[in-house]
Amino acid sequence: QVIEVSSVVVDKAGYKHFMLKEVNEQPTVSAYALAHYVDNETGLIRSEAEDVDFAQASRIVLVACGTAHYACHIAKYWFEKLARLPVEIDVASEFRYREPPLSKSDVAVFVSQSGETADTLAALRHAAPQVGHVVSVVNVTTSTIARESETVLPILAGPEIGVASTKAFTSQLVTLATLAILAARQRGRLSPDEERRLVRVLSEAPRHLAEAIAAAPEIEAAAREMAEARDVLYLGRGPFFPLALEGALKLKEISYIHAEGYASGELKHGPIALVDSSVPVVVLAPRDQLFDKTVSNMQEVMARGGRVILFTDSVGAQTASEGAARVVVMPTCDPFIAPIVYAVPAQLLAYYAAAFLGKDVDQPRNLAKSVTVE
Ligand code: G6P
Repeated sequence: QVIEVSSVVVDKAGYKHFMLKEVNEQPTVSAYALAHYVDNETGLIRSEAEDVDFAQASRIVLVACGTAHYACHIAKYWFEKLARLPVEIDVASEFRYREPPLSKSDVAVFVSQSGETADTLAALRHAAPQVGHVVSVVNVTTSTIARESETVLPILAGPEIGVASTKAFTSQLVTLATLAILAARQRGRLSPDEERRLVRVLSEAPRHLAEAIAAAPEIEAAAREMAEARDVLYLGRGPFFPLALEGALKLKEISYIHAEGYASGELKHGPIALVDSSVPVVVLAPRDQLFDKTVSNMQEVMARGGRVILFTDSVGAQTASEGAARVVVMPTCDPFIAPIVYAVPAQLLAYYAAAFLGKDVDQPRNLAKSVTVE
């Protein structure tokens, strides 16, 4: 199957599905985004968003749908931590009808792979007259959303064919990370040396994405076991909470297995009632300062016979493997970029489960790549 996108011919390049090809393109396309946003001479961020006044902004409002919406939730951790900028996030279909109070000191950012999603576009049109600056983060720079924005940040992921978004997600994350660094600089929160350190860390994302992809055989083995389940839980803390939501979304979209993402700390407020030996519980948790808390959540799951599939780094694997049904070791990386790197297992678990079940991975039932009607 060959698909023509804006007169560019895209094929599967020997991969069984476009989705698998696009997952494997992530080291390369994330490097394109980095090449665009990193000034090699200074080691600092350079961006079209330098004309946004983050120093005077009182808030950043992030609006999107689907996978792009989860990218916003991960970026929230960066904007808050690095730039100390209050963040409001909404799904576009809610934002546009909620009549949220907006002001000229708000920077509104609309994230959309296609740049044509009807709800995101309507949200942009609703916000534009009321906010200080409209920024879009898009893959298609000729799209309507891009044309109607004051500042356009390209993610440079190249054509994405699989309905389930993968490389666009990680490239959105890289782009939003550069925006958070820029906002932090403008707000006087980063010295040039601190900015250079973050840029160096971010520049390691392509290499670590490739290392995560190298774990594909183990992820596939975990996915095959998971494919028999009726329900799957995904747990994470901090930025791994929205990544858990994204992993569950991916699994639902293409394998049709019911999945839910939860903040690990919410386990005892409901989802633990679902746990028995038939429910795989996917835990996304590098060894960070919250790791011990996540380990105790895993123990609660295991005490109820739940099958834990843990994605962690080598130190995490050494300390927390006991009792887990499966542990897949992810590359050791700086916490800043870990949510980008751990997107790979979230994507590949869904991919291999769906492929194993013989589902139409690239064109799942009832879903469209770009939702241009409300
Ligand atoms: C559809 C796609 C999703 C995508 C969402 C938002 O639902 O199936 O993969 O995340 O639209 O699309 P956008 O183009 O605005 O990022």
